[in-house]
Amino acid sequence: MYEAYTEGDLRKFMKMNHIIPNVIYECILTTKADNETNVAPMGVVFEHDTVLLRTFKNTKSYKLLTRVPYGVINFTDNVEIFYVTTFNTEIDFNELLTSSTSVPVPSLINAYAKLEFSVEEVVCEDDNKVVFRCKVLKALWKRREARPYTRAEHAIIESLIHATRIKFFLEHGMIQEAIRLTLLVKHYDALISRIAPNTVYSSIMNKLKVLISSWGLSSPLSTFFEFQKD
Ligand SMILES: Cc1cc2nc3c(=O)[nH]c(=O)nc-3n(C[C@H](O)[C@H](O)[C@H](O)COP(=O)(O)O)c2cc1C
Repeated sequence: MYEAYTEGDLRKFMKMNHIIPNVIYECILTTKADNETNVAPMGVVFEHDTVLLRTFKNTKSYKLLTRVPYGVINFTDNVEIFYVTTFNTEIDFNELLTSSTSVPVPSLINAYAKLEFSVEEVVCEDDNKVVFRCKVLKALWKRREARPYTRAEHAIIESLIHATRIKFFLEHGMIQEAIRLTLLVKHYDALISRIAPNTVYSSIMNKLKVLISSWGLSSPLSTFFEFQKD
């Protein structure tokens, strides 16, 4: 059944959704400049009247935000959306998106909450990262169904976030760092095999392992990446 969004400001959103300032929450960020649209997982931190996004400079999200300083922070608890948007696999963005009302950037169709924002300022930056402070122009949220906790969802999110850094480290010859994170992904893989075999979670994990293996095969340390043979 379709459920309408409740509309309000950031403070009301934070209260209704039990948001704790200074905690990193994982969202799906949508950005757009000219005809280029992007959808990517991103961490977001709430302040009292604004939110912070920490974007790596090598991401498309960062590049689009510097061109058009508007976006939507979308919240979903569907880990499949996190999987398909992290490496843009098996995905036609248009199927996931709908238009927004107060920003020239689309939002996620099935999000349970959305924050339409404009970038207010750059808080700080270094060679790799920029922290943007964003003003929320409109907050929208639905009443949330309770979802039973499963470690499998967290294992997928951790593995995906590590995988993005493994790719970066391999591209920059930082092999030790890549190995460290790959071992963590192997740990989550073993966990999922144990607690959620033959499920959507093991299927996502298998696809992620194939992807990671495809980055590391030319390395002399390839045994670390040969997940499929486990
Ligand atoms: C759960 C999760 C959280 C992430 N958080 C961030 C983040 O806070 N900042 C960032 O730059 N990349 C983050 N990433 C990595 C980007 O989503 C990933 O590099 C993506 O491929 C880059 O997006 P792009 O399409 O904007 O290039 C995160 C990935 C995951 C899976």
